[in-house]
Amino acid sequence: MNEFLELALEAAAEAATIIRTGAEQPKRIEYKGDVDLVTDTDRRSEAAIVARIRRKFPDHAIVAEEGSQGAARGARYTWYVDPLDGTTNFAHGYPCFASSIALYEGETPVVGVVVNPMLQETFSAVSGEGAQLNGKAIRVSTIPKLSASLVATGFPTHMRHNSANMDFYWGFTLRSHGVRRDGSAALDLCSVACGRFEGFWEFGLNSWDTAAGSLIIQEAGGKVTSLEGGEYPLGGPTILASNALVHDEMRELSTEILAKVADNSKPGAIVR
Ligand code: IPD
Ligand code: CA
Ligand code: CA
Repeated sequence: MNEFLELALEAAAEAATIIRTGAEQPKRIEYKGDVDLVTDTDRRSEAAIVARIRRKFPDHAIVAEEGSQGAARGARYTWYVDPLDGTTNFAHGYPCFASSIALYEGETPVVGVVVNPMLQETFSAVSGEGAQLNGKAIRVSTIPKLSASLVATGFPTHMRHNSANMDFYWGFTLRSHGVRRDGSAALDLCSVACGRFEGFWEFGLNSWDTAAGSLIIQEAGGKVTSLEGGEYPLGGPTILASNALVHDEMRELSTEILAKVADNSKPGAIVR
């Protein structure tokens, strides 16, 4: 097996054990922002993942949500680690959270792994080799129309008073089978990759949220861009991910909603 994938799978399995154990115990919660939570399990999971990367690849850089680092940035390879994606769910005992690990060579994805510890589902992809769920190949759904789609989004924990996403939530609800807000961007992306959702969008995600899931979607035959349809750089301000078939419809609806938001914010306009 590809040595990078092997390391990512081993690290994800260890993180999953740590998270499952933590889920059974009282949580120690701290606030990084208004509603931006972190628990001791986030930190334990990150320490375990990062220790494995450092041991095996000491010359690789690491960008991890809770601040761990590896070799100096500028290294050929960089690992993006979200040790616990869906911390708010975890803190409340709502069983929808994950650990997300990806390796990039410069801007190019190499491997991505996302594990859902409670459902014991491991999503993985190697660039150019397809995507898998628990070792079996996965593909995006074949639903061609937004009106027959189930889509998902999330809300940023920072700047939430300024977010246009309520307008998006409403607009997409009216034009699809519904919008889910599951609270883990990494799992949302994997749900697109395996055909549970047709599309996903969000504002303000970080590189560690999307690095693995965006590769997994693309290797499953889906498409990832910005909401405007341009290239999505890791940690870019918006992301639009889909089964590729409903991508243009989602992008066009986004443009429509943004135009309405801009219109509503003119002085004298009715603001919802
Ligand atoms: C959050 C989750 C959530 C998304 C937020 C993220 P965290 O990550 O992915 O679904 O809506 O924007 O910050 O903080 O639980 O790792
Ligand atoms: Ca996250
Ligand atoms: Ca996190």
